[in-house]
Amino acid sequence: PKSSPDYIQFKCMPPGAHLNRWSQNITRGHEFPGAQAMLYAAGVPDRDMMKNAAQVGVASVWWEGNPCNTHLLEFGKIVKDAVERQKMIAWQYNTVGVSDAITMGSESMRFSLQTREIIADSIESVTCGQSHDANISIPGCDKNMPGVVMAAARHNRPFIMIYGGTIRKGQSSLLEKEINISTCYEASGAYAYDKLHAKTDAGKEGRTPSDVMEDIERHACPGAGACGGMYTANTMATAIEAMGMSLPGSSSYPAVSPEKRRECEKVAAAIKICMEKDIRPRDLMTKKSFENALRLTMILGGSTNGVLHFLAMANTADVPLTLDDVAHASDTTPYLANLAPSGQYYMEDLYKIGGTPSVIKMLIQKGILHGDIPTVTGKTLAENVADWPSLDPGQQIIRPLENPYKDSGHIRILKGNFAPGGAVAKITGKEGTSFTGKARVFHKEHALNEALSRGEIKRDAGNLVLIVRYEGPKGGPGMPEQLRASAAIMGAGLSNVALVTDGRYSGASHGFIVGHVVPEAAAGGPIALVEDGDEITIDAVANRIDVAISEEEMARRRSAWKEPEPHVRRGALAKYARLVGDASHGAVTDGW
Ligand code: FES
Ligand code: MG
Repeated sequence: PKSSPDYIQFKCMPPGAHLNRWSQNITRGHEFPGAQAMLYAAGVPDRDMMKNAAQVGVASVWWEGNPCNTHLLEFGKIVKDAVERQKMIAWQYNTVGVSDAITMGSESMRFSLQTREIIADSIESVTCGQSHDANISIPGCDKNMPGVVMAAARHNRPFIMIYGGTIRKGQSSLLEKEINISTCYEASGAYAYDKLHAKTDAGKEGRTPSDVMEDIERHACPGAGACGGMYTANTMATAIEAMGMSLPGSSSYPAVSPEKRRECEKVAAAIKICMEKDIRPRDLMTKKSFENALRLTMILGGSTNGVLHFLAMANTADVPLTLDDVAHASDTTPYLANLAPSGQYYMEDLYKIGGTPSVIKMLIQKGILHGDIPTVTGKTLAENVADWPSLDPGQQIIRPLENPYKDSGHIRILKGNFAPGGAVAKITGKEGTSFTGKARVFHKEHALNEALSRGEIKRDAGNLVLIVRYEGPKGGPGMPEQLRASAAIMGAGLSNVALVTDGRYSGASHGFIVGHVVPEAAAGGPIALVEDGDEITIDAVANRIDVAISEEEMARRRSAWKEPEPHVRRGALAKYARLVGDASHGAVTDGW
C-alpha cells in the first residue's frame, strides 16, 4: 500500500499543495487543542506554522561511547537547522544501538542484532505516533542502516537516510603501517600463536607484544566514523545508496569530511522534493532496487550480513526477495574491489577516487546496475551520478569489469543436507572454492575462542571444519556476530580450517567461512546433530554444504536430540528469541 502501514489506516491528505499531510490531522482547526498546546510548548512559533508547516522527524541513532555513532546528534542539529530554513518544523530525537566492535566476542554481542528491531520500532513509533510528515534518519554502526530503512518501509512516509560516514585509517608507528579495527583482532590471534612476538623482536628492540597491542589499540580508530573496510556498515550504506534512498556520495564521504556536513545541509531541500513529489520508501524499495543492492555488494566484496539485512528490509517492504535472488546476483556479478577485509584499501581511499557514485556510474554504463530506478532526489539513479567523475583507469581499487578478481560474487548461498534451509558463505576464491575436513564441534563461540587462545587448533592437524552452534537467532539468542575466531585464524595463518556457524560473521571476517546455517541448532537443524569427526564438504562452485552421514544415521541422531532449555528467560533477548524468524528470512520479529 502506498498510503500507510496496513495495520492502521492513518488519515492522510492527498499529495498536493500542503506538505503537512499527516500532521494537519492534529494541527488544523481546534479538534486536538491539547496536541497544539504541547506543540507550542515544544517550539512551534506561531499559528501560521502550526497550521501549515510540515513536521519532519530527524532521528539520529546516537549514543556516546562508539565512534560510529558519537557524532550523530551533532549531524542531527545541522539537519534540523537546514529543515527549519525550508520553513518546516524539525523534531530531533534519537534511538539507541549497540557497538559491534565493543561487544565483539563477549556475551554482550547477543544484544547487537536485536537493536536493528529496536531502531525500526523506535522510528516507526515516533513517526506514526507523533504524526510526522517525513523522516530523516542518521544511522552509523552496522545494524543502524537496515533498522532505519525497515522503519521507513513500515511508516512509508517520505524518508532520506544520511549515513554517519566511514572512519579514517589509523597508523601504528610501532608496526610502521596503516591499521584499523580488524588489526586489533588479527594481532591478538597472531599474539596467541607467537607470530607477533617474533616480528616485534626482529623490528624494534625492547618492545613486548603487549607494547604492540597497546599501540594498536591506541591508534586503530583515529576519530568519528564507522569501521572503514567493506564491512557491514559500509556494505549497507553503499547498497542503500544504490537503492536510491540516500543522497549521492552519502556512503563514501568520511564522517569527518566537509562533504558529510554539506550532505546534512542538502538533505532538507531533498526531503522537501520527496514530500512534494510524494516519493515514498515503498516506491523506492522494489525488486529492481534490491537487485542493485545485491549486485553492488558482490562488486565491492561486502559483508555476509548484507544478505540477512536485505532479506529483512525486503520482507518489511513486502518485496519478494529470497535467497535464490541472492544466489542469482552472486552467479552473475563479478567481484572487482580491492577493499578490506580481503583487499588492501578502505572506504576513505574509494572516496578519494570519486566514491560510490563513480562506481555506480561505471556499473550503470556496463549494464550491471539499474540506472532507471527513482531516488530521493526526484531523479533517477543514472541522473544522480551523471556528473560524477569516471573512475580513473590508473586507480588500484576497483578493477575493470573485463579483469575481475573473480567472475562471480564472493557471497555464496549454500544448501545441502547440512543446511536444508540455506547458509551464507563468504568465499573470495583466495582460499580455494571447496573444502573437505573433519568436524570439530563447539557449543557457543566462546568455546572455540578459548580453544584458539590455548593454541589447541594445530596447523598440522589436517583439514578441520570448526563448527560453532547454538548461536542462531533463537539459540544465541540474537545471532551474535563472530570475528575473534576468524581473525585469530587469519592472524595465526591456519589455512587448514574452515569455519561454520548458525550465527553470523562480522563484516571484517574473511577466510573460508559459512554462517547463517538454517535450520539453526536451537531448532534441531542438522548442525545440532553433527559430531566430532564427521566429514563435512563445502563446495562453493556447486553451492553445497553436506555432511557425510547416511539419512538413517541423521534420523537416529535427530530422535535422540533434545531441545535445550532457553538460557535467557526475561528481557529484550528473551522477547527477541520468542518472536524471531529464521536467518533465511532476515531474522525479523514482525512476521515472516
Ligand atoms: Fe560500528 Fe564497526 S563497530 S561500524
Ligand atoms: Mg558488525
